[in-house]
Amino acid sequence: MVHKAVIPAAGLGTRFLPSTKAQPKEMLPIIDTPTIQYVVQEAIDSGIDDILIISGKGKRAIEDHFDRNFELEMSLVNKEDKRLYNEVRRISDMANIHFIRQKELNGLGDAIYYARLHTGDEPFAVLLGDTIIDSVIPVTQQLIDVYEQYRQTIIGVEQVPEDKVDRYGIVGGKRMSDRILEISELIEKPSVEESPSNLAIAGRYILTPEIFKAIEKTKRGKNNEVQLTDAMRILLRRESIFSCTIEGKRYDIGNKLDYLKTIVEFALKRKEFADPFSTFLKETVNTLPN
Ligand code: UTP
Repeated sequence: MVHKAVIPAAGLGTRFLPSTKAQPKEMLPIIDTPTIQYVVQEAIDSGIDDILIISGKGKRAIEDHFDRNFELEMSLVNKEDKRLYNEVRRISDMANIHFIRQKELNGLGDAIYYARLHTGDEPFAVLLGDTIIDSVIPVTQQLIDVYEQYRQTIIGVEQVPEDKVDRYGIVGGKRMSDRILEISELIEKPSVEESPSNLAIAGRYILTPEIFKAIEKTKRGKNNEVQLTDAMRILLRRESIFSCTIEGKRYDIGNKLDYLKTIVEFALKRKEFADPFSTFLKETVNTLPN
């Protein structure tokens, strides 16, 4: 059973400066809900009851968001705003959430390594704190289902346009079923010619404790950081790794254009905004030059 999750959220978010100078990018709101709240909700909806957030310098707002705020609660009680009161209480009761600080920003592999004492000898899910995936079945649940079948590391992947493979970590291997590959290759940002497929790593994983030994052996790679993909390549020499094509739509909040698109799509899905916002969008589109 996978019941623990690790959410790395310590990164600098340099692609989102200046907004991320003094606030975590994982707290960037999609209208009124911080990105990381969607990520935590996906974990909970997938049966996870224990979450470790890898935090760091300047990330206090994440801890405060999932903590209780008695002053705010009292003020909502006094205003008799039951709906907002319940929402605020729900957030602080979402799950058993723990925090650990990544002391130096040495990359995603290094961030995951901080989880080793917390996860012990259990498999665990990893959900990147800056990536929302909108789906019918929560994506972490989809990967847990595949893990139950293979009992090995599972990487969530998604199809990307063939001419854009050089932006992603790409997997290649033997097809086991429609959605599942037994991985034989893991390449970070390959050229279009050398890419073994168009299946890109999508920010969701099920990892086993074996990953920690692999991280220990991983030398610093791109950006002089310990990359999780490099550690998984070391792991691949010793054991099988599978990928599962996720069913859902991925939103990478860490880059500005995708963030903008996310807000528009989520606003159109919200009952209270769908009509007025689509009217506004149509009017705006009409003012655009052809
Ligand atoms: P990114 O590489 O997208 O985050 O990592 P970043 O480094 O903050 O982004 P830029 O390139 O500077 O804009 C994906 C996730 O992994 C976390 C990030 O917080 C993000 O949620 N991360 C990354 C860590 O926790 N520690 C790290 O050392 C690196």
